[in-house]
Parts: sequence; C-alpha cells; structure tokens
Amino acid sequence: MIVDRIRVHPQLVHADDRDEWPWTVPCVGALLGAGVALPAPVTFLVGENGSGKSTLVEAVAEAFGLDSYGGRGGSRYASPREKSTLGERLHLDYTPHGLAMASGPRAKRRGFFLRAETAMGMMAEKQGWPGYWEERTDLMSHGEGFLTVFESMFQGPGFYVLDEPEAALSFTSSLRLVALLAELGRGGAQVICATHSPILASVPGAAVLEIGEHGIQQTRWQDLAIVDHWRRYLERPEAYLRHLL
Ligand SMILES: Nc1ncnc2c1ncn2[C@@H]1O[C@H](COP(=O)(O)OP(=O)(O)OP(=O)(O)O)[C@@H](O)[C@H]1O
Ligand SMILES: [Mg+2]
Repeated sequence: MIVDRIRVHPQLVHADDRDEWPWTVPCVGALLGAGVALPAPVTFLVGENGSGKSTLVEAVAEAFGLDSYGGRGGSRYASPREKSTLGERLHLDYTPHGLAMASGPRAKRRGFFLRAETAMGMMAEKQGWPGYWEERTDLMSHGEGFLTVFESMFQGPGFYVLDEPEAALSFTSSLRLVALLAELGRGGAQVICATHSPILASVPGAAVLEIGEHGIQQTRWQDLAIVDHWRRYLERPEAYLRHLL
C-alpha cells in the first residue's frame, strides 16, 4: 500500500464554493474532513455515468504527481496540463512505504495514470518514448494496443490510477487485465481503478467503493448494482428490453 486515505482539509474550500462544481458532486463532498479510506491494495470505484469517478481518479493521479494527461509518474516528459480544482486540494495519506516514494526525487514516483478521455491520444503519442513501450501499438487493433500498453506499463510496486481501462477489451482480454491487476496488488503496488466492468471489479481481495448520490460507500462485489443487473440481463434480456422497445 502506498496511500491509505484520501481527503480534503475543509479549510481549503471556502463555504461559498461548496455550492459549485466539483464540491456539489456527492463523492467529492464526501472527501471533506475525514475523507475516505482505501482499505486494500486494489480498489475499484463503481457508479453510474456522471457519479464523479473520473473527477476523483484524475485528482488522485494529479495529487500523486502522475502525468495528468495519462502516462507515467516522475516523467520529465509529462504533458503540461493544469491541475484540477480537486487535484490541487486533495490530500493523500501516505503509508510509510508510500511516504518514502513520494518524498524522494520525482523519478522515484513510479506508477501510471490511464486517463479515459485522452487514452487514445496518449497511446498514439507516447509509443517509443523513454520509459514507455517499444511495440508498434499503432499497427495493432484497439484492444491489442491497450493490452500491450497495460502489460508493459503495469509492472512493479508503483501507484496505478486507471479510468475505465476495460473500454477496448474483450471478455478474454478483460480477464487478462484482472490477472495483471491482481498480480500488481500482490506485489506491493497500489491500484485505484474506476470501472463499469463487473469482470474487472472481481479481482480477488479488492475493495469496492460504490459512488453515487450517497457519496462513497464500501460494498461487496456480489452486492453491487451492476453485478445484479448484468446477471439478470444475461439471464433474460427481454425483462429489461420490454420497458424500452
Ligand atoms: N470541468 C467540469 N466542469 C463542470 N462540471 C463537470 C466538469 N467535469 C465533469 N463535470 C460534471 O461532474 C460530474 C461527474 O463527472 P465525472 O466525469 O467525474 O463522472 P464519471 O463518474 O466519471 O462518469 P462516467 O461513468 O460517464 O465516466 C458530472 O455531472 C459532470 O457533468
Ligand atoms: Mg468517467
């Protein structure tokens, strides 16, 4: 573990600003004060579209010093992008191991941020850069390219922040990513991953935080709404579709 809690000191947010984005997003509001614990080396954030997952993971990546466009930590080649309102104020509670990493030179801040909105551009741009991957991902399919990026960049005890890494992946490739994330967790790394995929969220031993109107709540994989919906949909699609068609 590198970070075991994330929070925002309430003094950093003026009372007038709390009626404005991003503080009006319930999961962001939930960070004020004691904040939220990250109870396991691999943590998934699961919730509806617009619930605030990307806002949260981008801020975590920024606060750790990962390339906020998507990319490595400690890179001299990081893309210039202004920190977000939340990223500027987010406090990461480091474990002793994490503190050693974060307080050392920037080059020691090992990790990777997969930003959902810029993932395609990041992959096109960074292929062949020092410290990135050598394989010609531009000659691969969408999913093959991302799997290659993941397999070369997700290595060793770093801090990995991922936003919907399943987007390009087939069922089988998603299982490979599950194995990769599980291995990172066992090897001293930390993963924080926003996902809509019940497959990814099933990494054994992972913590699942459900994001929604209530804020942020730890839950069990088998109690997630998406797991229940997928299970029932695959069993009987027409039960859902008759309300829509
Ligand atoms: N720069 C911004 N300014 C104002 N509002 C924003 C901004 N970025 C996002 N929002 C709003 O914040 C809320 C949370 O957005 P966010 O992108 O974090 O959701 P998400 O959980 O990642 O959704 P999805 O599953 O669709 O990726 C949304 O209501 C969105 O419209
Ligand atoms: Mg998102």
